[in-house]
Amino acid sequence: MTPGHVLARLADLADPCAIVVRFEDDPFASVVLTRRGDVISAFRNKCPHAGYPLQRADGRIVVQEGRYMVCAAHGASFGLEDGACAGGPCNGDGLERIAVVVSDGIVSVA
Ligand code: FES
Repeated sequence: MTPGHVLARLADLADPCAIVVRFEDDPFASVVLTRRGDVISAFRNKCPHAGYPLQRADGRIVVQEGRYMVCAAHGASFGLEDGACAGGPCNGDGLERIAVVVSDGIVSVA
């Protein structure tokens, strides 16, 4: 996950959304890429509760009320924009943010 690594095309991100982006060179690494309006954010895909990735078995991350993503393991919820714990067993611990930049419609690691 080096600076400049392309994560997605902005046009491919629904509003709102939280998607999993995997890395070809490391099958165990993935990030959660989110959009809410004009705010694009990325986080390490590791829940602070018990360390599981956030997605369900079908690979999707549940988005609630257009502003929260929900960990499939035990239901902790996090803000789409800041990854802050919004409820559940995360007990105040948020997701680890990964800096991104949007340029010419491309979202990449900053
Ligand atoms: S690992 Fe995410 S809520 Fe438990």
